[in-house]
Amino acid sequence: MSANLPLLVSTVFAVLTTIQTALVPEHLTVIIGRPSNHTMKTKLELKYGDMELQFRKNSYVDVLTPLVLDETSREGVLQLAGKQANKGHRLEAELCRSANQPDSSNTTECNEMLRGLYLEVTVLKSSLVAALVMVVGWAYFTAWSTSFYPQMLLNFKRKSVIGLNFDFLVFNIVGFLAYSAYNVFMYFDSNVQAQYEEAHPHSPIPVLLNDVFFPTHALAACILTALQCFIYKRGNQRVSYVCMVLTAIMGVWALVGFLATWFKLINLLQYVTSLSYIKMLVTLFKYIPQCWNVSDWTAFYGNPVKFGLGVISIAFDILFMVQHYILYPHRADPDRGDVEQDDQTTPDEESGNVPDKEESKKRIGEEDSSELEKLLNKVEQKGMDQEGNEGEEEEENATKRSGNESTGKSSKSTGVRQTQQ
Ligand SMILES: *[C@@H]1O[C@H](CO)[C@@H](O)[C@H](O)[C@H]1NC(C)=O
Ligand SMILES: *[C@@H]1O[C@H](CO)[C@@H](O)[C@H](O)[C@H]1NC(C)=O
Ligand SMILES: *[C@@H]1O[C@H](CO)[C@@H](O)[C@H](O)[C@H]1NC(C)=O
Repeated sequence: MSANLPLLVSTVFAVLTTIQTALVPEHLTVIIGRPSNHTMKTKLELKYGDMELQFRKNSYVDVLTPLVLDETSREGVLQLAGKQANKGHRLEAELCRSANQPDSSNTTECNEMLRGLYLEVTVLKSSLVAALVMVVGWAYFTAWSTSFYPQMLLNFKRKSVIGLNFDFLVFNIVGFLAYSAYNVFMYFDSNVQAQYEEAHPHSPIPVLLNDVFFPTHALAACILTALQCFIYKRGNQRVSYVCMVLTAIMGVWALVGFLATWFKLINLLQYVTSLSYIKMLVTLFKYIPQCWNVSDWTAFYGNPVKFGLGVISIAFDILFMVQHYILYPHRADPDRGDVEQDDQTTPDEESGNVPDKEESKKRIGEEDSSELEKLLNKVEQKGMDQEGNEGEEEEENATKRSGNESTGKSSKSTGVRQTQQ
């Protein structure tokens, strides 16, 4: 069920989005050294005979012959040959003409085609990479998305939310709400897309289907978890004042942005982008209490928020690992021993928790950091599809880890736990 759900939803999304574009499919993948044929179909009615489309030359992919859409079937074959690895290069039409119209380059039909044309080609070095990108992408995505459920299940079983960090929950809801708004508008709204196109010519919309599904699903999961907080036993836990104030500030930010958009001081793209920065702020807020010095993040490219999230999360992850495994390897253990049986912990984190397994635990730590190095390398590789997801994934791991950290350190919650046991 949960495995089929992402597929189902993505299909629905795919269907919804293809309705908008004049030519489908809108995303194509080619492998270097292997020319391929792709059957394209238009939803437009071709009143003036076959339509020919010529595409602008680019350094990533060759379009071997012009695309000719058949008048009756509305289909044509696009022959592509990849030249240079690239993630989602947008093909642009240079010329459009209809067979039965000598001067057809500006018929309404062609205008409609050019307006509705959105065609992205991803060029990969090998089919192995193509398969890997897909498998890893969906694996990350599934792992990330299902990670919300153990907590909910646990709350349900215990009929209690004691030990759950309410501030985290509030921040998550605010963050995912803002981030969902950004991704949904970027992915579905043609106005926002046009504005993006204008602001960043020749660069593809930096939002993928995963980016839409993930935060909306996460938002729903967090809201459900929040509802549990109203229903189940919660002791004297509450949302902290600091969290309330920060949330209020972000709310004001969103409201001011909304008014500015309403009065046309900024456009919708600028507004949703400003919302996406809320997500980044939230990520920072969530981490700051867990450690002392905030990391540095420098360069931004493409999708700054996605990139920033990744950088922040990885930086904090490294910091936590250094803290936990190198700076204070022993200090954490006694505390963490009793966290083991308890909630909010990932199985992999907790598996090596018994004190006499110190050695194996260190090894796990090392493996983690080499995994991280790999990750970092991957993030740097621009040709990859998955940077954002990895960032998110890491973020989530860190969230859990830091959750452990704080429950371990806070004597109050330890006390609660002991009374429960
Ligand atoms: C693509 O189609 C053209 C024309 O029909 C054909 O000559 C070519 O061999 C096809 N290429 C592939 C890879 O199927
Ligand atoms: C279409 O092109 C023809 C010839 O180039 C020109 O006379 C005509 O004004 C154009 N129509 C539009 C709507 O641009
Ligand atoms: C940040 O680190 C420096 C030393 O590296 C330390 O002196 C300072 O107190 C730290 N900042 C905070 C807020 O703890």
